[in-house]
Amino acid sequence: MRIAIVGYGRMGHEVEAVAAARGHEITARIDPAAPDAADQEATPGALNGADIAIEFSLADAIEKNANAYAEAGVSAVVGTTGWDDRKETIAAIINRAGIAYVYGSNFSIGAHIFFALTQYVSGILNEAPEYDIFLREIHHAMKQDSPSGTALTAADRVIRTLARKNRVLTETAHRKIEPDELHVTSSRGGSVPGVHSVYVDSAADTIEIHHSARSRAGFALGAVRAAEWIRDRRGFIGVDDFIRDILRLQ
Ligand SMILES: NC(=O)c1ccc[n+]([C@@H]2O[C@H](COP(=O)([O-])OP(=O)(O)OC[C@H]3O[C@@H](n4cnc5c(N)ncnc54)[C@H](O)[C@@H]3O)[C@@H](O)[C@H]2O)c1
Repeated sequence: MRIAIVGYGRMGHEVEAVAAARGHEITARIDPAAPDAADQEATPGALNGADIAIEFSLADAIEKNANAYAEAGVSAVVGTTGWDDRKETIAAIINRAGIAYVYGSNFSIGAHIFFALTQYVSGILNEAPEYDIFLREIHHAMKQDSPSGTALTAADRVIRTLARKNRVLTETAHRKIEPDELHVTSSRGGSVPGVHSVYVDSAADTIEIHHSARSRAGFALGAVRAAEWIRDRRGFIGVDDFIRDILRLQ
């Protein structure tokens, strides 16, 4: 496949390495600020010759780039975060153009396996009242948000699946946890790329579901696989649909 990389920062470079390793050709590296990018703007000219664009840029760029994909007739995989408020606008641009656009805040296939396991275990716990469940996550000292988006997604799977947990508690409690509260705690320090654990605990034993990211390569691999997947598809597609399809989840 011929891929245009839009946003040639940390993730753009990861995508390039993964795409090359999977035998794809990079036709363009587009970024207004990266010194090693050949093009500064995602124009139809810069996208010319690409089968697909993979974008990890910044939220401000989302609409302009979507218009460029629409004009060029080039489908896109978009991992950029922080534009939930513009979803309807982007969907309208994509659907009018008849191209495909797969978007999501987490393209790591491993993280989605972790979510699926969390949901599966939460379902089982409806029949095992002696077990409690809680979540812990650890990230590097530079991370600005707590809890992580990944922890919140996992927590949401628990709340939706386990009838006796109704709300997420993300702060230190300084009191006993209520039975319907799901406690999610965050630690920050060092360079940890991301650790998430779900603990399922009874008086007799503990079961732990543990996801530990080693690098950003997992996000890039998911994005490149999504690019391979959308080749013959059309429409505005959330990453969950792509994951459900490739992992054959219900
Ligand atoms: N979905 C996922 O799985 C996932 C994983 C990691 C990061 N992210 C998100 O991806 C985005 C990029 O992350 P990063 O770590 O590579 O950041 P980064 O800051 O290293 O790179 C972003 C790049 O986008 C460039 N850019 C700005 N405006 C642009 C435009 N109009 N067109 C093209 N490029 C433009 C910037 O110059 C910069 O080089 C962020 O929104 C981040 O939250 C998503």
